[in-house]
Amino acid sequence: MSAADSGARTVILVGFMGAGKSSVGLALSRKLDWPFEDLDERIEAQEHLSIEQIFQQSGEAAFRQIEHAALRSLIRDLGVSPKVVAVGGGAFVQANNAALLEEVGFPAVFLDAPVEELFRRCQEQQLKRPLRRNLKEFHRLYEARRPCYLKAALRIETSGKDVEKVAAEAIRSLGLR
Ligand code: S3P
Repeated sequence: MSAADSGARTVILVGFMGAGKSSVGLALSRKLDWPFEDLDERIEAQEHLSIEQIFQQSGEAAFRQIEHAALRSLIRDLGVSPKVVAVGGGAFVQANNAALLEEVGFPAVFLDAPVEELFRRCQEQQLKRPLRRNLKEFHRLYEARRPCYLKAALRIETSGKDVEKVAAEAIRSLGLR
């Protein structure tokens, strides 16, 4: 019986910038044979703008509204088939998004790592992240958000592990196989 047949629900990957939500999400999707979706990519496709451009042109508050609407539409589009979904670092921290995910009952998996490592990973990926300014500010935001991330069904420490190992740990801990 596949994980989908066993009634497993869509899995949501949450955590700070640089946590590896997209790369672990892809590994998880391959292992489970479920489709993968990145909420930020849905937003960019829908708005025809990069996340950075949305922040620049409309500000964070507008981005959060777009993000919430996109999460609603993603959930609406799911149908009966489960997916692996990665959401941006601020999404799970917004009370309306956390409430929506709780309502639908999808388990959230918090991917964690030491904050200096998260900062370094972002630098290595060279992706533009409007909320990654300097290490001090990054650290402050991480600490402020951590209590929200810890409300996830599962926390996985990713430091020193490759994405395959993290994905396997998520599958085992969520009882998806
Ligand atoms: C954000 C994280 C980003 C993106 C946006 C805001 C945040 O996603 O959604 O820049 O508030 O932490 P990643 O976590 O994938 O970098």
